[in-house]
Amino acid sequence: MFQVFHGKKTKLSLSDVQSVTILGGQGKAGQKEEVAEVRFEMGNVVSIVGSTGSGKTALINDIELFANANTPTRRKVLINGATPPPDLMEDPSKNPISRITQHTNFLTDLPVETFLHMHAKVRKYNSDENVVKETLDFANQLTGEPIIPENSMTELSGGQTRALLIADAVVIGNSPVLLLDEIENAGIHRGRAMELLRNYQKIFIFVTHDPKIALLSDFRIVMSNGAMQKVLYPDDDEKIIAGEISKLDDLMIKFRNRLWEGERITQKDLAVGLSKLIADEMEGSS
Ligand SMILES: Nc1ncnc2c1ncn2[C@@H]1O[C@H](COP(=O)(O)OP(=O)(O)OP(=O)(O)O)[C@@H](O)[C@H]1O
Ligand SMILES: [Mg+2]
Repeated sequence: MFQVFHGKKTKLSLSDVQSVTILGGQGKAGQKEEVAEVRFEMGNVVSIVGSTGSGKTALINDIELFANANTPTRRKVLINGATPPPDLMEDPSKNPISRITQHTNFLTDLPVETFLHMHAKVRKYNSDENVVKETLDFANQLTGEPIIPENSMTELSGGQTRALLIADAVVIGNSPVLLLDEIENAGIHRGRAMELLRNYQKIFIFVTHDPKIALLSDFRIVMSNGAMQKVLYPDDDEKIIAGEISKLDDLMIKFRNRLWEGERITQKDLAVGLSKLIADEMEGSS
């Protein structure tokens, strides 16, 4: 695999990937994009936000396809600042980009543990490296009901499947760039996911409708009418709000868990929950 870089041909291996750049193209109406260039560096956690139909999925499709002015958006995607070689997508072991969608399913009924060991072997980990355990631990921090390693892959629930896919891609898979498409609907613990992902040096790009994921990201790309409208970095206010939103989210999760356990929620529960949030906030700002 070769990459044209400053006029020279250089080899591009997965560990060489340092950045991904999107060069702006056009929106749905053919209008020039406000954002002319956006760059993702290793370790960045980024969100793509915008209303339904604003072009979020189209943007990550461009990244996944290494668009080169050959999609309706006319965007270009660069790796380490240069046009990637055209055959990058042909060999999955060399493709630096992995995508986790809502609709991915496992097509194997192997036991979870066997599947992970096989994947670890393919990825050339030694058997004494604890990647399988690390993957399961990671996945189990995202799910309500723990994954049983002896169970078959097809027995996993939707949320468990998604959690395992994310953990497997992050821990065992060595893709430097992960595209995560609306994981909020998968019933996994997003706050934990964001925290855990930060332990791994990769580029994480979330398409999200979830304000919590957006505010916990390093920056967000705002989409409108098929175009990248703005790139916003959280300011001091938003950093504080991200923490408060997490508490609001925890309250919702608490309510959700009670519903799952067949309990009822009262107006008093809501009032107590909200007043506790406000009291914490007053304490924090005094
Ligand atoms: N720059 C563009 N030029 C032409 N068509 C575009 C452009 N951006 C998006 N589209 C098209 O507009 C439609 C909606 O875009 P997209 O599916 O990306 O929206 P979305 O933000 O992901 O919406 P949702 O939140 O519902 O998933 C799609 O058919 C897509 O191909
Ligand atoms: Mg979409």
